[in-house]
Amino acid sequence: MKLWDKGVEPDPAIIEFTVGNDRVMDLSLAEWDIIGSMAHAIMLQNVGLLTPEEKQSLLNGLHLLFQKATKGELIVEKGVEDIHSQVEKDLSVNLGPTGKKIHTGRSRNDQVLLDIRLFTRSEIDRIAVKVFALFNKLQSLSEQHKEVLLPGYTHMQPAMVSSFGLWFGAYSESLADDLHLLASARKLNNRNPLGTAAGYGTTLPLKRKLTADLLEFDDLVFNSAYASLNRGKVEMAVAGALASVARTLGRFSMDICLYMGAEFKFIDFPGEYITGSSIMPQKKNPDVFEIIRARTNHLQAVPAEIAMLTSNLSSGYHRDLQLLKPLVFDAFKELEACIDILNFMLTGIRIRKDITEYPVYNSIFSTEEVNRLVRSGVPFRDAYKEVGARLENGSFSRTSTKDYSHEGSIGNLCNDQIQKMAETHMKSFNSKTSSELESKLVNYKLDK
Ligand code: ARG
Repeated sequence: MKLWDKGVEPDPAIIEFTVGNDRVMDLSLAEWDIIGSMAHAIMLQNVGLLTPEEKQSLLNGLHLLFQKATKGELIVEKGVEDIHSQVEKDLSVNLGPTGKKIHTGRSRNDQVLLDIRLFTRSEIDRIAVKVFALFNKLQSLSEQHKEVLLPGYTHMQPAMVSSFGLWFGAYSESLADDLHLLASARKLNNRNPLGTAAGYGTTLPLKRKLTADLLEFDDLVFNSAYASLNRGKVEMAVAGALASVARTLGRFSMDICLYMGAEFKFIDFPGEYITGSSIMPQKKNPDVFEIIRARTNHLQAVPAEIAMLTSNLSSGYHRDLQLLKPLVFDAFKELEACIDILNFMLTGIRIRKDITEYPVYNSIFSTEEVNRLVRSGVPFRDAYKEVGARLENGSFSRTSTKDYSHEGSIGNLCNDQIQKMAETHMKSFNSKTSSELESKLVNYKLDK
């Protein structure tokens, strides 16, 4: 069944090629498509395009389809193009002429925009909770190991004294910033495109603010042409935020691969967390972190893929846009898998406590010694030269590292402030689940 059937059947090869994987992709949108239709029906009654009875019959029909969708029983049948067509088909079969009214003042173009925004909002909120769990794990590792020193590197050379507190905390603050980006992408996403129809509005007197309220959007995407021009742009912002989380995970994983190396041995994991070699009996390999690194590198390419797919399109709807769906849907799944396994891996991490005792790391205390001389009145450049000479002639010996007190140094990690920042961002991720929103709409009375 094609919604646009005009009596001439297109060749099935045309339909199969243009639909591609979309029937499967659209299953992720099914619940949201139904919820969007509920809001649309309520609005149509409010503006007099449906009677109260018609609206209620549509809501009841949609409720049954929603239940089917939550059980995974709603599929897009072969011969049906997409979830939007499937829902309309089922309503028309089940409700007769009333079912055929659901598409009044609407196009699949604004429908798919709406579905993607509702889906994206809920996925962002779900992923943010997982990012926050990882953030909290890193924060507690940072606090737990704040006294344990670690050599800090620049140019891959031992540079200065660092600590496990500073290292774990660096990645938790990075995730706090990633939460900020997710919150910003969510804000861009949380505006209602429904009612912009095919991209040029409609002569019917729709109340777009009403559907925005019902669906708990912050506001409208106002300009109808912009609503379709925007497809790909909001995805790019979302993929950018996901890429930023991915980048944090990827760089952390690279550090772990390095720190697990035989020349470093800064950290290790129990046997259940690592992999071996089929030929070399000594191997304890960081395969999990290598796979995280690869998958998060791939995730960072998604914004570029979105740009390539959309940047030379003229305004207005194009079928090319359909191919945005797998990019974004998969990005959420991929990132979630990486966060989950990383959260698990961190339950096993073991750190070495005596790393900086090794003579090879003596030199990382040299800047502290320069500062000690500076405090006793020696000009910085002279102190630098003196300590440099001692390093050269082998007479340098390490002193203490007790003096780190400024914000963000090993003696003052500011983890409580980083925690507050992340908690503030977390307030943004507060959408209802699909079931909560559906039960609000199915019983919605306009005079309430
Ligand atoms: N599957 C389509 C998409 O994702 C739905 C919109 C179809 N609109 C159209 N004019 N063919 O873009």
